Amino acid sequence: MYTLTLIAQKGGTGKTTLAINLSVAAEIGGWRTAILDLDPQASAAGWGDQRERDGPAVVPVPASRLEAALETSRRHGVDLAVIDTAPHSEASALAAARAADLALVPLRPGILDLRALGTTAEIWALARARTAVALNATPHRGQLADQAAEAIAESGLDVAPCRIGARIAFQHSITRGLGVVEHEPAGKAAAEIRALWHWSRVRLEG
Ligand SMILES: Nc1ncnc2c1ncn2[C@@H]1O[C@H](COP(=O)(O)OP(=O)(O)OP(=O)(O)O)[C@@H](O)[C@H]1O
Ligand SMILES: [Mg+2]
Repeated sequence: MYTLTLIAQKGGTGKTTLAINLSVAAEIGGWRTAILDLDPQASAAGWGDQRERDGPAVVPVPASRLEAALETSRRHGVDLAVIDTAPHSEASALAAARAADLALVPLRPGILDLRALGTTAEIWALARARTAVALNATPHRGQLADQAAEAIAESGLDVAPCRIGARIAFQHSITRGLGVVEHEPAGKAAAEIRALWHWSRVRLEG
């Protein structure tokens, strides 16, 4: 079983959106996938309640039970555990990053998000998971995403080469309990998620 964690100190950067969408892409690709929702706000679990399809399983998990939940997932034949974390919660984010084969840090290009990277980077250093920034909700025009990617790379951090644009499909699909690859399979959001999942899979398996 592989473990993929979504972490970011800052709220609202897209942890839950990417956890859900990467999980659906993995499940469709034939991986038995479970989302372990560490966020007391339980947004991923709420999405799971809306969902009328089998898989991925969504399990709300208190931070203190993470190890046990991972062990249970392993025993049940889960291929991929995706951990969605709460913002501003260093202890549980650290535990989730420690457990990860790959930690993805969603970041919206913009100066405020870049500042929050400092704190997250300290968590990574402690966790020693493979980590990469995933640029999310990038604007369709302008240089902002390129500038952000450069600034991140200059600070020595990995950036996933596939960016996720700001697209309304992410909001519409979530309210329907779907991933974008199901909601609009031929859309741009779906293509971007497939690319990010492919990139993540190579890193998990590598
Ligand atoms: N690529 C995107 N395009 C459009 N909207 C997006 C995108 N990514 C996220 N959003 C929207 O931004 C909001 C915050 O996203 P999300 O809940 O995934 O962030 P989060 O990091 O999990 O937040 P929190 O820290 O509160 O858990 C949501 O309304 C979501 O639909
Ligand atoms: Mg969230």
